[in-house]
Amino acid sequence: MIETLRWTDKGVEMIDQTRLPHVEEFVLCRDYKEVADAIQTMIIRGAPAIGVAAAMGVALGAQQASDANFEAEFEEICATLAATRPTAVNLFWGIDRMKKLRASLAGEQLGLLREKLIAEAKLVHDEDIAINRRIGAHGAALVPDGKTVLTHCNAGALATAGYGTALGVIRAAVEAGKKIDVFADETRPFLQGSRLTVWELQKDGIETTLITDNMAGHFLHSGRIGCVVVGADRIAANGDVANKIGTYSVAVLAKENNVPFYVAAPLSTIDLKTLTGAGIKIEERAASEVTAMFGHKVAPDGTRVQNPAFDVTPHRYVTGIITERGVATAPFEESLRKLVEGK
Ligand code: MRU
Repeated sequence: MIETLRWTDKGVEMIDQTRLPHVEEFVLCRDYKEVADAIQTMIIRGAPAIGVAAAMGVALGAQQASDANFEAEFEEICATLAATRPTAVNLFWGIDRMKKLRASLAGEQLGLLREKLIAEAKLVHDEDIAINRRIGAHGAALVPDGKTVLTHCNAGALATAGYGTALGVIRAAVEAGKKIDVFADETRPFLQGSRLTVWELQKDGIETTLITDNMAGHFLHSGRIGCVVVGADRIAANGDVANKIGTYSVAVLAKENNVPFYVAAPLSTIDLKTLTGAGIKIEERAASEVTAMFGHKVAPDGTRVQNPAFDVTPHRYVTGIITERGVATAPFEESLRKLVEGK
């Protein structure tokens, strides 16, 4: 299985997702600031993966914080990691989990606390893979046999600690013996679809066809696509889904063509405190991601650009939200709350 990131004695190692698919290189983050930088520059990306990276970043920072000023430095570490990217709630979830552990060990020796923080970060990593396997098991049953699955962006092993959410569903369907193939949207401007999803699925021998984003409607209309499965960065209490820019268009086109539209995500992506999609902060990224492609200019100098990294798909377009505890369907206020509360 592809290893996205790992804890080592020297720091946090992660596969550099800005260099894939042609260069497979691990970078070492030696302190929490390097972890924060890796999240911001998208060396590591994908909601669950940045949640795990942030938890490891906190553990790493705590190793290096001074005994004399530990309290203040711990706060600074958490604040720096939290300021990297605003949309994926998993980032904040990962940091909060470490803060809660720290609070539960108030008054303990710093040596013990540091050890426990490392153990917790490793646990967050391992749990994420187990969660994705459960998401896959719930989702596999929903994938029509003998058809094509359309996906957008990369919600695979690379976007998580391993196995993936949307790609986990696809992997589980293949493991269950279903004869399916995949259409991967290229996902402009960062090309997570062409660079990462195709790379991952090729490694697993899953038949994959790359299409550009503006071809999705054409194929959804063709009758070939059995369902759409995507990941999520934050799901509001009413089931509105923030995910990679372009997801909303795919969801509307899926509904228009009676193709089921599924979102696969861990419960840590559900944010019951945010009531609707209108409350989700959408990250705006650099104009250069749109005006240039990997160093090659594709727009005139001085072009005005908007580059929202995510959009919000209203819940009415969502057929089901596949989590590790089961599949939520409308009305989502009720079904999501029940899943989160474990009922
Ligand atoms: O900007 P990115 O690459 O971090 O965006 C990733 C996505 O939008 C994914 O679909 C989402 O995080 C789910 S990953 C399991």
